[in-house]
Amino acid sequence: MPAGGGAEQAPDSTAGALLASAIAAIGRSPAIDHWQPSLARWDAEQLLSEAVGRPVTAALKRSKLTAPERRRFEAMVARRVAGEPIARIAGYLEFRGMRLLVRNGVFVPRVSSELLAEEAIARLRRRRGQRAGVDVATGSGPLALAMAKDVPDAEVWGLDISREAIRLCRENARRAGIHNAHFRVSDMLDALPSRLRGSIDVFTIHPPYVARSEIRILPREIRDFEPYDTLTDGSEDGLELVRRLAADAVTWLRPGGTMLVEIGTYLSRKTQATLRHAGLADVSWTKDALGVTRVVSGRRPR
Ligand SMILES: C[S@@+](CC[C@H](N)C(=O)[O-])C[C@H]1O[C@@H](n2cnc3c(N)ncnc32)[C@H](O)[C@@H]1O
Repeated sequence: MPAGGGAEQAPDSTAGALLASAIAAIGRSPAIDHWQPSLARWDAEQLLSEAVGRPVTAALKRSKLTAPERRRFEAMVARRVAGEPIARIAGYLEFRGMRLLVRNGVFVPRVSSELLAEEAIARLRRRRGQRAGVDVATGSGPLALAMAKDVPDAEVWGLDISREAIRLCRENARRAGIHNAHFRVSDMLDALPSRLRGSIDVFTIHPPYVARSEIRILPREIRDFEPYDTLTDGSEDGLELVRRLAADAVTWLRPGGTMLVEIGTYLSRKTQATLRHAGLADVSWTKDALGVTRVVSGRRPR
């Protein structure tokens, strides 16, 4: 099949044989960051399942695909081999039980952000009475929507500087039937209603934290498929938006409220120092099961 590089297939190949060929082609792609050996298999199975519209089972692997199914699968694999993210090929991502639309020009959400969502939801649930959560740099809205869905009596805001992102957030909210999340085009907190000053329970941010000088060494699957402004804030250390939010958080959070930052492991210490420097207390971090994503947290002193 043409999927990224010359794997040959007999016309009567089973789905299993096509799958094996796709795994090999994806595994060889220089556009993809192969940081885990099982990723190529996971990607190929996802695409096969999308192409045929059912889960990948042993029975499916033994069967032959119809000609349209095979064409669909091969076209999807070729796109993945060129680096296109799986969620963009599928057009959606499953995030905490919601099917979020994914679109060109807006950052593709990562399942790894579920850790940040869990941390934020836990903090909101602990709070009695009125609760408010704000997701800054919200992209397609995964964190704001997760907070709003799991804490339905919370007032949730999602802010992003990108118009396309906010349009997509509203569409995702409508499709998920979520009515307690509000989305605004906003440079950081500029569009947040001033009545919320001093009463926010949780800020979340998954910022564009790649240092400007490191953009060129990112794998093509990221560099060529995500808008530049969603990857870097243009600063030398990638922490400019974190500094800006931390400086404002001390007045916008209620006393005891929390700022949560999703950040790469290599920036964890520097992020903690940034939060402390801004006057936040009880600064700490958690990491996900893979040890890849860290969430750094700090609280406004009471
Ligand atoms: C890494 S993406 C994260 C998106 C989303 N939180 C997610 O996890 O899928 C960073 C986001 O920051 C937004 N952004 C960049 N500069 C901003 C600013 N000054 N104010 C608000 N949002 C900004 C970008 O448009 C982009 O959507």
